[in-house]
Amino acid sequence: MQSVKEKIKEIKQHIEEALENVKLSKKLYEIKMKFMGKGGEVSDLSKSMRDVPPEERPEVGKLINELKVWSDGKFSELDERLKAEELKKRYAEETVDVTMPAKRAAYGALHPNTLIRNELVDVFSGMGFEIFEGPEIENDYYNFTALNTPADHPARDMQDTFYISPELLLRTQTSAGQIRVMEKKKPPIKILSPGKVYRSDDDATHSPMFSQMEGLVVDEGIALSDLKGMLDEFARKIFGEGVKTRLRPSYFPFTEPSVEVDVSCFACGGAGCRLCKGTGWIEVLGAGMVNRRVLEGCGIDPDKYTGFAFGMGIERIAMLKYGINNMKLLFEGDVRFLKQFKD
Ligand code: PHE
Repeated sequence: MQSVKEKIKEIKQHIEEALENVKLSKKLYEIKMKFMGKGGEVSDLSKSMRDVPPEERPEVGKLINELKVWSDGKFSELDERLKAEELKKRYAEETVDVTMPAKRAAYGALHPNTLIRNELVDVFSGMGFEIFEGPEIENDYYNFTALNTPADHPARDMQDTFYISPELLLRTQTSAGQIRVMEKKKPPIKILSPGKVYRSDDDATHSPMFSQMEGLVVDEGIALSDLKGMLDEFARKIFGEGVKTRLRPSYFPFTEPSVEVDVSCFACGGAGCRLCKGTGWIEVLGAGMVNRRVLEGCGIDPDKYTGFAFGMGIERIAMLKYGINNMKLLFEGDVRFLKQFKD
């Protein structure tokens, strides 16, 4: 009898000691398991009931029960307190200062080339043009021969070409798309063909890879004046109200007549400045009436149908419009440069 009472006293003391420095509820749970769980001092005590003589059992049982109630209370009381403290601490640590300025997410912007391309597509699709995109690796036939530029034609020299094989090349002009369209579709045709082109050419205003935008209109009764009217509209929309166009005679094998198109200088209004080199005019694109031999080659009757075509360099338009003096800036991807086009 005495020994069980003493044992209980001892266990109580052990528990008190074990709980003295507990700071974490997790640790408390471990201690609780150590005493109350299997093999623990408290549970072992219940087991020892077997050895207690029957007449003493009710009393010993009561005492053990009291110990259990006491220790349960002790553990849950402390557990509650520790958990409340832990929660308080967590709240304090996770406090959000809603008055702090938010972190700004760095977002990108469209590349100037893309901006110009989108603008051009907007302007021309507003006039009823459809988009056609041809392949960048082209047959010699589409890039040259079908454009009235057979092998040995001196005009091939106008475009230094990257050949992949005698038959395949990197297209030097989006004009190749004209043939692909006219082979498949019969007039009326009104397409716009943007894309990358390649030439072995590299200086401040030329790059081995650049972008062009091709336009092609074929129908009955199309005249050079239609080209001029459309270009005037394009110049106003892209370079600003009051900008005019003029046509100068030029040469391309696939157009006849061929023209070089200038816009009146949008920087000085035509008076003469650095941008237009004192002339009042800036060259922006090549164009002309589709050569009848090209129409014929695509199975379109040149006595019934006529058409015009034009092609412009997108980087060139971007450089003019944004006052960029070196084409390399458009390909280097320098964020300090690109940032300036964020709106
Ligand atoms: N393809 C010509 C070039 O790259 C431009 C052009 C297109 C000229 C269409 C006339 C008609 O220089």
